Amino acid sequence: MTTELEELKRSEKYFNFTREMMQGDIYRKYEKAIRRIWNPVDFDYTQDAEDWKTLAESDRRALLGVTIRFFAGEQIVARDVVPMFVAARALGRYDWVMFLGTFAMEEAKHADFLAHWHSKVVGILEPHEVAPYFLSRGKTVDPTGRFEIKEVAHEGLPAYARALESAVHDGDSYEIKRRFIRYLTLYCGFVEGVLSMPSYEIVVDSCKHWGKFPTLRQGFRHILADEGRHITFGTKAIQLMLAEHPELEREVHETFDEFRGSIVGLVEYQKTMAHLDLEKYQVQKARHYRNRCREMGVTPDETLVEQILDPEIDFVVGVVAG
Ligand SMILES: [Fe+2]
Ligand SMILES: [Fe+2]
Repeated sequence: MTTELEELKRSEKYFNFTREMMQGDIYRKYEKAIRRIWNPVDFDYTQDAEDWKTLAESDRRALLGVTIRFFAGEQIVARDVVPMFVAARALGRYDWVMFLGTFAMEEAKHADFLAHWHSKVVGILEPHEVAPYFLSRGKTVDPTGRFEIKEVAHEGLPAYARALESAVHDGDSYEIKRRFIRYLTLYCGFVEGVLSMPSYEIVVDSCKHWGKFPTLRQGFRHILADEGRHITFGTKAIQLMLAEHPELEREVHETFDEFRGSIVGLVEYQKTMAHLDLEKYQVQKARHYRNRCREMGVTPDETLVEQILDPEIDFVVGVVAG
């Protein structure tokens, strides 16, 4: 005979839906993501293909320099959603797992959109066709020597992922939260929430400037709407964990600090696309940083804001997708 209590425990193990959970912010983001599903195959790429034929060779190279980096970046971040699933599961956050399902699908779809666009508009898709446009910067150096510029997407995220996964393996919930806060800060707050934003804007502004590529702009509008949910999922999850452990705010600041050079530097295409207003994108980054801090409920580091806006700091860092 099972007791009533055992019966209840068993039902809690199997059933995660509660009215409270379904009214929560993360579940609501899940609902929104489901409502706003879009599909790259529904777009018409014919006008973009026509526009490509008349784009100057130098502009073609500059544009592909950004879009091919996005194509690679979206594939990287799709894979990097995985450690978040593992951590959300370990913390018993079923609504977070639900949302992460949409998150992973959307990152894969962003890469899929760029696969369709490059294939149908430019006629390139195979790795050997796109690779020549993946401009590797080599090591970025700040000529003043004030900032050490670390690689975020290829080194930072995988290292933070390993730390998070090992905390999940060890099973200490405080350590899982500490590592999860760092991972979400780097992925959602830093990469998606500040660093990638000017790169999307640069593509949209360039297309407007040329009066070309309506479908590339349409796709980027959808991508940006998705990114908005990814970012605010991360910052909300951080805020919820900080409410339990306010001392972990230091992990947020340490993470931004570790990659400070990447955020104060200029995105490289701010400089190669001649028609762009350089200051606009730095002002935007500072605004995004303040917004992320507000969402997380942490105090912004004013020295970081000052450095982002400092016109004397003008070394260039690579493009990153979210
Ligand atoms: Fe994203
Ligand atoms: Fe994305």
